[in-house]
Amino acid sequence: MSATYLVTGASGQLGRRVVSNLLERGIAPARIIATTRKPESLAALAERGVVVRAADFDDETSLTKAFAGATRALLVSTDALDAPGKRIAQHRAAIRALEAAKVDHVVYTSVPNPYPGSPVAIGQDHLETEQELGRTRLGFTVLRNSLYFDLLLHALPAALTSGDLVDARGDGAAAFVTREDCALAAAAALASDTRGRRIMDVTGPAALTSADVAKLVSDVAKKPIRHVSLSKDALVAGLTAHGFPPAIADVYASFDVAIEKGDFHVVSSTVKELTGNAPESVAAFLARHASVITG
Ligand SMILES: NC(=O)c1ccc[n+]([C@@H]2O[C@H](COP(=O)([O-])OP(=O)(O)OC[C@H]3O[C@@H](n4cnc5c(N)ncnc54)[C@H](OP(=O)(O)O)[C@@H]3O)[C@@H](O)[C@H]2O)c1
Repeated sequence: MSATYLVTGASGQLGRRVVSNLLERGIAPARIIATTRKPESLAALAERGVVVRAADFDDETSLTKAFAGATRALLVSTDALDAPGKRIAQHRAAIRALEAAKVDHVVYTSVPNPYPGSPVAIGQDHLETEQELGRTRLGFTVLRNSLYFDLLLHALPAALTSGDLVDARGDGAAAFVTREDCALAAAAALASDTRGRRIMDVTGPAALTSADVAKLVSDVAKKPIRHVSLSKDALVAGLTAHGFPPAIADVYASFDVAIEKGDFHVVSSTVKELTGNAPESVAAFLARHASVITG
């Protein structure tokens, strides 16, 4: 029997690209269930024949109906970072519903190195979600997505104006990956017929320090950009002064502490293994977004 593929969070940036890639792979729209809190935002997919359903992990009763009929599912981790404990409760509700819907295999978007006591503020959520999957009868592919390099685009305007790329990463290196490669890897894992259980780091082709990144940005911008590393507290204070809610500033800065510690250093071959193509490098990504840099 053909598989039916479920993508949660299908109106998010990652979820949307996963659904598009499933369609590009030739999977029949009627075999794709796209769930979201905002079904109206996926009207174009519904018109193409994709099964669009409402699902909110905060409303467990919505989930059993929304997940019915799926055999393979991508569980996109939520972005609920504002209240401690909220996200893990959401993920537990989703996992219970995936089991109840008798899904065979779950692909989950995690984070590199989710160990107890990780400095990453959201590391514990991912660790507990992975553990929760382990307690079920579900097969799974955990994709431990490294930091999206796309996030740098938000920091670039300030760096280009001041000449300082400011973070709290010290000399730590991270194997940044593009969101697009994460989406392609997730779609490939979902569309495959892999069973069993596996955990894979999803990374770009190399680990780069912020000094490396500053040099690459300087090359594209044709002006000097230097890396300035602050303490975590100073970075949180700076982000808060620029309007970030303190809880979100703390999450951002916690990634920097983990990067300095080496928790995002590992480079994997997962993207190539799953998609057949090498992941995009930071230099290629910057060249593709040169207009953002050169104005
Ligand atoms: N690796 C990284 O650097 C990085 C960076 C940022 C985020 N992330 C994680 O990766 C995920 C996907 O990234 P993205 O770029 O697509 O983020 P995004 O565009 O901000 O999407 C947020 C996602 O969370 C879903 N969501 C939020 N609340 C939900 C709820 N109550 N029930 C069900 N789904 C809910 C949204 O689904 P709908 O809106 O469709 O309901 C959407 O798919 C994020 O949610 C976050 O966990 C990773």
